[in-house]
Amino acid sequence: VPDVSIALIEQLGLARNAAIVDVGGGASTLAAQLLSRGFADITVLDISAHALELARAELGAAAKRLHWIEHDLLAWSPRRHYDLWHDRAVFHFLVESSRRELYAEALRSAVRVGGKAIIGTFAMDGPKTCSGLPVVRYGPHELTSQFGGGFTLVSTRREQHTTPGNRLQPYTWVTLEHVSG
Ligand SMILES: C[S@@+](CC[C@H](N)C(=O)[O-])C[C@H]1O[C@@H](n2cnc3c(N)ncnc32)[C@H](O)[C@@H]1O
Repeated sequence: VPDVSIALIEQLGLARNAAIVDVGGGASTLAAQLLSRGFADITVLDISAHALELARAELGAAAKRLHWIEHDLLAWSPRRHYDLWHDRAVFHFLVESSRRELYAEALRSAVRVGGKAIIGTFAMDGPKTCSGLPVVRYGPHELTSQFGGGFTLVSTRREQHTTPGNRLQPYTWVTLEHVSG
């Protein structure tokens, strides 16, 4: 259960019809958890058809109530605005600044001004790789500064995540507000 994500989302006090997008959310139970909490406008975007299939299978018939987008986030032109963007463990894989800029562009165009983004990455003392791939580690201010002046820091949280294999993964979480286009 993605407890920290749920706690951070619930802290925002969003209306249950708020538009939420979970990027890289395939193979995660977050969408199912949000649906069970009454959220009615949930989009899951992932580059991997397999990951999306796992998430859909988890939901069974209820999967029809969500929006599913199989797409590369870094080449995504959102067709609508979202009130909330959620990313757990996607941004930290972007080790090239050009790819981080593409992410920031997608974030800016997807989240309405006044909307929020919750982003979780490995913390500065977290692992240097994840699933064998290098990651960039962030503190809250380093992470916030990646998205330019259009996003301000609302709150931050540190998580000591323990993997199913009993390994410790410290996370930095930020909640950002899109203040200007
Ligand atoms: C480490 S997993 C995190 C999954 C989930 N957010 C969680 O916390 O359990 C990263 C996910 O991001 C997806 N992903 C990686 N690069 C992506 C991209 N460029 N566009 C969309 N999804 C991507 C992967 O397919 C994978 O499902």
